[in-house]
Amino acid sequence: MLAKIKQTVAFLESKLPEIPAVGIILGTGLGDLANQITDKIELPYETIPNFPVSTVEGHSGKLIVGKLGQRKVLAMQGRFHFYEGYSMQEVTFPVRVMAALGINTLLLSNAAGGMHPDFEIGDLMLIRDHINLFPEHPLRGKNSESLGTRFPDMSEAYSKTLREKAKKIAQDNHIKLQEGVYVGTQGPTFETPAEYAYFRIIGGDAVGMSTVPEVIVARHAGLHCFAISIITDLGVLGKIVEVTHEEVQQIANNVQPLMTLLMKELVADL
Ligand code: HPA
Repeated sequence: MLAKIKQTVAFLESKLPEIPAVGIILGTGLGDLANQITDKIELPYETIPNFPVSTVEGHSGKLIVGKLGQRKVLAMQGRFHFYEGYSMQEVTFPVRVMAALGINTLLLSNAAGGMHPDFEIGDLMLIRDHINLFPEHPLRGKNSESLGTRFPDMSEAYSKTLREKAKKIAQDNHIKLQEGVYVGTQGPTFETPAEYAYFRIIGGDAVGMSTVPEVIVARHAGLHCFAISIITDLGVLGKIVEVTHEEVQQIANNVQPLMTLLMKELVADL
């Protein structure tokens, strides 16, 4: 893996005039933020050595490097999910590359099912913490000390400073912002009512199929992390209805402008 990271980093350094300090992973239906990036260079994943190619509907895959407001950012439009069949090393490879490039802050977004009884469809939820229920750990196996420590600390996986900044931004812009614990599961099934109830009991406020592996690897590499979920459906007893991928994307699309504003302001404030 070290050799692959090195090769990919060398390729990107040869393509990019300047390496940003901020990385962004744009999740389901959140492509709009990418449209706000100016002076950009776009690199489709299939042109980047060692990058997996994303397969799922609605996730176009490219790396976008440019300016968000006055800040240089490197954004991943489309991520790799464990349920697609990628190994955990593949899912998190781009985060390794970002870290090796010198990026120090990682912002992520995703779509999630809400389990907190006060949540409504279309809410934004700041991720305060996560519960990792993926069946495989991205750091399983021989540890390379050059990438990070064997036993990484996870006491503040999601930067408190960045969360406080985001809350202030939300308040100033009258954006309703929930905060909670994200449960990361492998999918691709949405949850049964009993599973939503179980995830609620163990301390979850929302559940989704991404983000956790990327944040684990980012923390291993020492990056500051910040993540927001769009609540696209509810796993709350009495409110559980059929969920489809299309609906998830539709709701995420509707909320895009708020998410974009929040992320943009946050990047400006870094
Ligand atoms: N469960 C898991 N992942 C999701 C959900 C959900 O209810 N909604 C959007 N992504």
